[in-house]
Amino acid sequence: MTQNVTLTVDADGIATITWDMPGRSMNVMNDGSLGDFVSCLDKAFADDAIKGVILTSGKKDFVAGADLEMIQRMCFGPKDARALTDNAAHFQKILRRMETGGKPFVAAINGTALGGGLEICLACHYRVAADNPRAQLGLPEVKIGLLPGAGGTQRLPRMIGAQAALPLLLEGKSLDPKAALAAKIVDEVVPADDLLAAAKRYLLGTPRKAQPWDDKGFKQPGGPVHGPGGMQMFTFANAMLHKTTKGNYPAPKAILACVYEGLQVPIEAGLRIETRYFVSLLLGSVAGNMVRSLFINVQEANKLSSRPKDVPRSDAKKITVLGAGMMGAGIAYVSAMAGIEVVLIDADQASADKGKAYSQDLLDKAVSKGRMAEAKRDQVLGLIMPTTDYAHVKGSDLVIEAVFETREIKADVTKKAEAMLAADAIFGSNTSTLPISGLAEASVRPENFIGIHFFSPVDKMPLVEIIMGAKTSPTARARAMDYVQKIKKTPIVVNDSRGFYTSRCFGTYVSEGIEMLAEGIAPAIIDNVGAATGMPRGPLELSDDVALDLAYKVRSQTAKDLGDKYLATAADPLIAKMVTELGRFGRKNRKGFYDYPENGPKHLWQGLSDIVPQKITEGSPELIEEVRKRLLYRQAVEAARCMEEGVVMAAADADVGAIMGWGFAPWTGGPISLIDTVGVAKFVEECDRLAQKYGARFAPPQLLRDMAAKGETFHKAVGAAAAE
Ligand code: NAI
Repeated sequence: MTQNVTLTVDADGIATITWDMPGRSMNVMNDGSLGDFVSCLDKAFADDAIKGVILTSGKKDFVAGADLEMIQRMCFGPKDARALTDNAAHFQKILRRMETGGKPFVAAINGTALGGGLEICLACHYRVAADNPRAQLGLPEVKIGLLPGAGGTQRLPRMIGAQAALPLLLEGKSLDPKAALAAKIVDEVVPADDLLAAAKRYLLGTPRKAQPWDDKGFKQPGGPVHGPGGMQMFTFANAMLHKTTKGNYPAPKAILACVYEGLQVPIEAGLRIETRYFVSLLLGSVAGNMVRSLFINVQEANKLSSRPKDVPRSDAKKITVLGAGMMGAGIAYVSAMAGIEVVLIDADQASADKGKAYSQDLLDKAVSKGRMAEAKRDQVLGLIMPTTDYAHVKGSDLVIEAVFETREIKADVTKKAEAMLAADAIFGSNTSTLPISGLAEASVRPENFIGIHFFSPVDKMPLVEIIMGAKTSPTARARAMDYVQKIKKTPIVVNDSRGFYTSRCFGTYVSEGIEMLAEGIAPAIIDNVGAATGMPRGPLELSDDVALDLAYKVRSQTAKDLGDKYLATAADPLIAKMVTELGRFGRKNRKGFYDYPENGPKHLWQGLSDIVPQKITEGSPELIEEVRKRLLYRQAVEAARCMEEGVVMAAADADVGAIMGWGFAPWTGGPISLIDTVGVAKFVEECDRLAQKYGARFAPPQLLRDMAAKGETFHKAVGAAAAE
């Protein structure tokens, strides 16, 4: 039988329990490893010769938390409160036994310890960490809608005080060993080769055999919850929490409740409180949706699960970026950071140099903040060659075009670059609006032509939308995906369509906001409710950011291209007036739906009520619910249309792309998960009502009607999500 966790005992009676799961690069918690861990604990307690126990790992990291299957089973298995509670309580008992069994336990943390991995360490009586700056210690559960359910919400605040623990629990931030030492999460940081010896030294001294919180006289660090400091902090934390979550995320609220309630009772009761909240999260829909989209499906996308399997792996060593403007400069930076040689071409040398200077700025900042060595900066910069000379394109595995959004200019640079390219090199366009199949007409090998759509700012935004033109080959798709993986971004693959997938759906959010404004709903209601849905900002503010003149240009072009098929709305004349009559282009000229004074915060433009009479200025609960529904459902119905039209091919991509691409309310798990959660039949019914009241843009596509009739969902039940 394979052993995931083993126990050895030395001549001094010190046992070492080592996590080292065969065939895996990381230790994770699953039935196998936990079973072995418990057997080792049994042996350690049964053997009177064992004086103390070291927990460590045989891998480069400690334990990365629960494994995918375990998380899936918890979130997507039967919603059986009893079974879920028993399961969580079982693990609590294991850790409690370590704490109270009378033998001292030391965690020798050699690398990253996250989630349940760190919770095991917190249950030890002492923690030594190797001085490994790459190691991360943290409780990131909140990021996927969960809470640390193995005592993390109880032990961490009892160890370092609620004030220090709350940001770590509520933001899921992780710390390197030195920061963890400063935060008093670990007791000692030692050179890696001294780790086990340091742990043993502690055990051979006068080690603690019980936890401070099991002492009768235990005093909560930072004072009791009902002390003056506690009262003030929890009141403040509660308000801050609502400000950031807008009530959409149950996990942070549950974490705060666990800490607040749990610190008022002995630890055993606190752990039961934690289990109760943990299970309540598992029974709700938010955690499952977030786990599926933000954890499982992002992992699948990063692993390139949908990459054509029969195309050999590629490794871009040299690329050319055409256009060194905002996007091109960012693309050059992320590529050079991944060790790729970059030829950065612009129409004149000064513009090309300016593009490289962007990388210089970012790298200098990293050096000055101590995040990067000077040598590394110089090495990255050395990879970027700014030029106007197409002769340097030669030898590139990939070209990414990011020149002006004009068909003719794009065609011209495509021809020039292709003349220098090897026959099998790939040509990618970063166009945001022009259909790929049309741009590919300028190419002599349209099968190698593909859309590689980055988001701004390129160095921060994690998603890349890969767009297949009508003639794009699976090889081009595979190689574009390989490149995206190499620069550590997440790819989704979509088919050609106006606005592709992300811009098309995002556009509906801002458009619906402007539509409501034209109907006479007060702009403050629209933007406040928009932000309260969990979108990054209100639709009017976002319209200003994207630029109203751009929206006008895109709408005019779309209306021209679609002719009778264009669904005109009340937003069209309003945008036209703002741009053509009033010269209000948005944030870029400080005049849009908002005014942007030089010295002061932005505020809604006072003149707005003169051009659109505001008929609804009171936000009744019914109105707020309707605005909320319109903003979310309008995007979701468009995403469903993209599924029906085959623009986006997998529900997983649709959700991942929505959250990472345009910030679709993450608590929903994405627009397709939202439809599943509402229920397809109920969603169709609501969309029919909205279409009746506000227009055909809400009309549900046939796909949804068919699914409703058959009782289907987009995402499959237990465990199937990862296979999509
Ligand atoms: P930009 O205006 O900042 O940069 C364009 C660059 O192309 C300029 O440096 C310009 O000198 C250069 N250029 C123009 N004609 C050229 C030629 N014939 N040869 C070589 N270089 C030439 O524009 P930005 O924002 O970087 O956009 C570039 C492309 O990326 C556009 O297709 C845009 O639609 C797309 N895009 C833009 C996003 C954004 O948020 N700005 C997001 C995603 C895509």
